[in-house]
Amino acid sequence: MRAILKPTPMVDGLKLSLLLFAVGITAACRKPAPIQETGAAASAAPTATLDADRFSRAGLVREAERFVRDAAFRRTELEHGFTNPKNTYSAERLSHYGHRTRGWDLLPEWNPKSAVITGVETAPASVPLWDGKVPTTWEQWTQLGRDVFNRYPLRSEVFVAYALENPVAGEKYGIHRAKDGTYPGLVRFIDEDGHAQHGITCALCHTSVNAKGEALVGEARRDFDFGALRLAVAEQTKSKIEPGLAGRFHRWGPGRADVTEDDDEDPVAIPDLWGLKHQKYLTQAGTIRHDGPASLMLRQETQLLTSNHQKIRPSRALAAALALYIYSLEAPASVAPESPRGKELFGAHCARCHSNAAGGGDLVSHAIVETNSALALGKARGTGYYRPPALIRVRYAAPYLHYGAVKTLADLLDPARLKPGFTGGQLGAGAIPGHPYGTELPKADRDALVAHLMTL
Ligand code: HEC
Ligand code: HEC
Repeated sequence: MRAILKPTPMVDGLKLSLLLFAVGITAACRKPAPIQETGAAASAAPTATLDADRFSRAGLVREAERFVRDAAFRRTELEHGFTNPKNTYSAERLSHYGHRTRGWDLLPEWNPKSAVITGVETAPASVPLWDGKVPTTWEQWTQLGRDVFNRYPLRSEVFVAYALENPVAGEKYGIHRAKDGTYPGLVRFIDEDGHAQHGITCALCHTSVNAKGEALVGEARRDFDFGALRLAVAEQTKSKIEPGLAGRFHRWGPGRADVTEDDDEDPVAIPDLWGLKHQKYLTQAGTIRHDGPASLMLRQETQLLTSNHQKIRPSRALAAALALYIYSLEAPASVAPESPRGKELFGAHCARCHSNAAGGGDLVSHAIVETNSALALGKARGTGYYRPPALIRVRYAAPYLHYGAVKTLADLLDPARLKPGFTGGQLGAGAIPGHPYGTELPKADRDALVAHLMTL
């Protein structure tokens, strides 16, 4: 048994038995105990010192070194890493990853020649991303991770050339030029067959660029409209898109993409990357268990490999470096004045779920939170749960909920949102069900809660 949960000394007898019950469930079927509506403490955090240590700077560097060198460790972490091993995301990884003599381990390692785009260059990219030296210090790891984030191509994309040739349309759909002259998220690179290509990187969705051209790494690019760009390219090249797919591209709108592998329609809002080390699960449906940094390294190694059509894989040092860079991202500090009343209300009505240092928390059954259940129940990444997202800079994170349905924080707390006559939704008229917390409070209290959320 790997999951050793040390109950804190403060836990009383009742909570302790609930906690042990939860551990039993986890061991038996790897499903987390849902948060109970009664507020019982099934969510009590494991406080094993190992966890805290693994996410310290020294712990992260140690874990990166181990991840690179220890194949058995990678496979064990993978086997422990999924909330629902049966969904297609988890099953594909369990069957292909870490078998040494078969599957993805046999793919060639790729160190792409890739360069950022400034819009004027004509020569193909010639410098490999990585000099081949495995970093040893925190600074070296995160520097390499930044290069991967900005330069490792996820795949080639037809809309890159389109957006560069049609800058007005590109700008409208979220392809921006930053102050330093680069287009964050776009690269030119040499693919594994030796062809010069345009590609996209992590920064396309996870770096915002404001009207002054200032880039903020880690903030979701909520004006990026993947579907609209694809439709624009199809129109320009007069190529046919199957009507069903065209409809889906159209409905996504800005800030959302369907990253799942199934046929259901479940586009997800691009999340900010703040405070992830405090989250015990990754992704909005909590698909990945996040006991240690190796979980994020595995996520990134397999993402870079599957997005490149399973033809090549990144060096493990690149995957580890990328994860350390993500953990290093810090949101700019808030300067808003505190709202003592709002803070108190948050403690009383919200903190039992939004319980960790980033304002995120443990999984909540979809049947309890009752928001749109397509993602939670989907075959691709579904677990039956949603994870409360971190609330750092939540004032800038509209539209809200995992599928980007609610326009403002005031709307989220407004009881009118739950009724059929509601017309203010981001995705059209009608009720936006679920997450009713706070809607029962008087208007003055809801205003105080919003004031508090604005300070986070
Ligand atoms: C096309 C847009 C897009 C690109 C490119 C992209 N992501 Fe994401 N990312 C998303 C979306 C959408 C989600 C939400 C998925 C979910 O919750 O199921 C997400 C989720 C994540 C998460 C989980 C966050 C959480 O709250 O648990 C991490 C970490 C992440 N991305 C990192 C990366 C990295 C690193 C790269 C580059 C290798 C990358 N992403 C490329 C759109 C993108
Ligand atoms: C029973 C657990 C629970 C309680 C209580 C709860 N939340 Fe949540 N919260 C969640 C879950 C789960 C999600 C994600 C739901 C989804 O996306 O479908 C969420 C999402 C949110 C979001 C959306 C964030 C984003 O970036 O989209 C905000 C804001 C939020 N909660 C604020 C609050 C406030 C304020 C309260 C108290 C009035 C509260 N929550 C009470 C579980 C809870």
